[in-house]
Amino acid sequence: MHLRKENILIVDDDVNILELLQRHLQSWNYHVFKAVSVKEAVTILSDSKIHLLITDLKMPEIDGFELIKFVSEHYPKLPKLVVTGYPSVQDSLTIIKSGAVDYLTKPFTKEELNLAIKKSIIPFEDNTIVHKKHLDGKNETYGDIIGNSVKINEVIQVIERVKNNKATIFIKGESGTGKELVARAIHYQGKFSRAPFIAVNCGAIPENLLESELFGYTKGAFTGAEQSRDGFFQAADGGTIFLDEIGDASLAVQSRLLRVLQEKEVVKVGAQKAVKIDVRIIAATNSNLRTMIAKQTFREDLYYRLTVVEINVAPLRERKEDITLLVDKFLVKYGLEYKDRYLKITPEALTILERYDWPGNIRELENIIQRAVIMSDKMVDIEHLPEHLKYNLKMSSTVLQPLKEIEKQYIKKVLRSTDNNKTKAAEILGIDRKTIRQKLSE
Ligand SMILES: Nc1ncnc2c1ncn2[C@@H]1O[C@H](COP(=O)(O)OP(=O)(O)OP(=O)(O)O)[C@@H](O)[C@H]1O
Ligand SMILES: [Mg+2]
Repeated sequence: MHLRKENILIVDDDVNILELLQRHLQSWNYHVFKAVSVKEAVTILSDSKIHLLITDLKMPEIDGFELIKFVSEHYPKLPKLVVTGYPSVQDSLTIIKSGAVDYLTKPFTKEELNLAIKKSIIPFEDNTIVHKKHLDGKNETYGDIIGNSVKINEVIQVIERVKNNKATIFIKGESGTGKELVARAIHYQGKFSRAPFIAVNCGAIPENLLESELFGYTKGAFTGAEQSRDGFFQAADGGTIFLDEIGDASLAVQSRLLRVLQEKEVVKVGAQKAVKIDVRIIAATNSNLRTMIAKQTFREDLYYRLTVVEINVAPLRERKEDITLLVDKFLVKYGLEYKDRYLKITPEALTILERYDWPGNIRELENIIQRAVIMSDKMVDIEHLPEHLKYNLKMSSTVLQPLKEIEKQYIKKVLRSTDNNKTKAAEILGIDRKTIRQKLSE
């Protein structure tokens, strides 16, 4: 009998279920860790390398959702399988959104369990290997970043250089190029990975709340501030704070950020005293901060503090070599999700994907593969790709124009075809509505 290498952690407050699961898992030669509470599970996770987490949802004290949240933050690569009584529609949605690979409803058969485990573990088999080597010795994945192009390898080299120190990092790139993925890789590949990674979308928080959300506030600082509270900066202490869409921060927030960067301390809203913090700051944007500086909507001094290390994430059209690898990854991901198996793609369809310009970058590619997998039964073929990909192919090969212009015209075309419905157009293009507006005004 050979011992499988996978360690599986099972968490359930019902010891009978634990025993049952253990018996099944051991019969398939998995190594089993058991925990009767979330607290115990957290300890085991920090001590041992776990390859799959199987957890119940309803548990006294801290429930399974909390554990899933914790694991997604601290062990983002660990696959999660949920075992639960009949979940409500709301709960099953939450489970899926939480990033759990699958869920099993009790009671389940041994066969169902086996299938769910295989499905959860197989796509993640290479998790323990951070760099999967190509035959030519180059990387094709780094953390969750897929790619083997010169541009992606340049990015990975910078990540390698900065991941173990706390220098401030600025990530630039078009929408959907993977800026957040790069930020997460810096944190999770480095030696501070066990400390929190806190992502803040500066554009999504109302301007008047951003300050108190970031820095916290004291009791009585404003009406409604009934007690003192920490902000994201305090929460990220020891780890990384990711300030996404930094261009959307108001001038007031900018001047406070400048102080954090200069003094390495934060002052809560309403407080006098500053508190020292130890946080790596990563900022990102897809807007042009230099133009904003010229218009005096972004502070130049802050800009220079933020750009200690700059990472440029190239648009997909400048690293088309990565398309095959990315397509493959999304075919596995969505094949397993919708069809329970891995779908292949025809060379003709792949050629179309390789010729397209990808204004919405990797996010757009992912959306298109997701849709194609849903639409196809056997292989993904040309007919499963949206019309505009094929159309774009003809246009870009006959008319020689600057890329920006073609992009603009194309966005207008999609807008026309959706009767000016920006939300719909954004969905098709795989970019957000703000980016559409931006690109049209460029
Ligand atoms: N190199 C890559 N390998 C695998 N997946 C990727 C890669 N780059 C991006 N993705 C995926 O594409 C999607 C968009 O990436 P991400 O959210 O990091 O983009 P972004 O640059 O932050 O975009 P935005 O400016 O719109 O916020 C995500 O689902 C991400 O996982
Ligand atoms: Mg982003």
